[in-house]
Amino acid sequence: MAEIQKYGATAKWLHWLVAFIVILMLIFGPGLEDLPLSEREQIIMVHSGLGTLVLILMLIRWPWRLTHDVPGPADTMGVWQTRLSKIMHWSFYVLLVLQPIFGILQAMYITEYEVVAFGQIAYSSMAVDNEQVAKIFHIAHGVNGKLLTVLVLGHFAATFYHHLWQKDNVLRRMLPFGKVSADLR
Ligand code: HEM
Ligand code: HEM
Repeated sequence: MAEIQKYGATAKWLHWLVAFIVILMLIFGPGLEDLPLSEREQIIMVHSGLGTLVLILMLIRWPWRLTHDVPGPADTMGVWQTRLSKIMHWSFYVLLVLQPIFGILQAMYITEYEVVAFGQIAYSSMAVDNEQVAKIFHIAHGVNGKLLTVLVLGHFAATFYHHLWQKDNVLRRMLPFGKVSADLR
């Protein structure tokens, strides 16, 4: 069977949809703490809704990824580069599932305001408020968010290292209408 040259439509949709939402949330998340409570409550309604959507998409994406073939390492990649890219990609899966779970646990115990995802899922009514527990998950959500930010920046740098320096197909095989050159992988 011929080797797969590029990511399929499902993988591309899931990649770019999750990437778009997560980049926005990592940019605007850290400013939330400084907003007045009433404004924060409104914005967290959207933040927690989008975060819940990321969790649902990741819970579809993970098993999907385990049961489908994706393109192998590019010809330009040595053993260490291949290993590092695998570690980085699987770290994304773990951190992207943990981040919304920590957010939801924080929301369930939060004392300052109500977290109602998209005005529909009342996370704050699902457990008795507890400042200490909320604080633990607030810290976990913040630290995991920072790790995600570092991973996204490293991933972004790696992608452009491939594209501009190694001049391989790695970026093109993930782009929505990317055309891969047949003579390299
Ligand atoms: C992939 C999904 C998510 C990302 C990338 C994300 C990102 C962030 C970031 C970067 C912060 C700021 C942390 C800090 O500086 O300490 C934050 C705060 C917060 N997030 Fe999320 N989040 C996600 C999902 C969720 C979900 C699903 C919920 C709740 C259901 C949630 C609830 C909150 C709350 C309550 C805060 C604290 C706001 C405050 O300080 O009052 N997040 N999030
Ligand atoms: C504009 C920013 C981004 C660019 C240019 C980009 C580009 C790429 C490319 C080219 C690949 C394919 C790598 C390969 O074929 O070996 C890839 C894979 C991947 N990217 Fe991104 N990406 C971006 C943002 C993100 C973000 C924000 C996330 C996480 C939220 C993410 C998560 C992943 C994951 C998990 C994979 C592995 C896919 C798999 O094999 O399951 N990417 N990305």
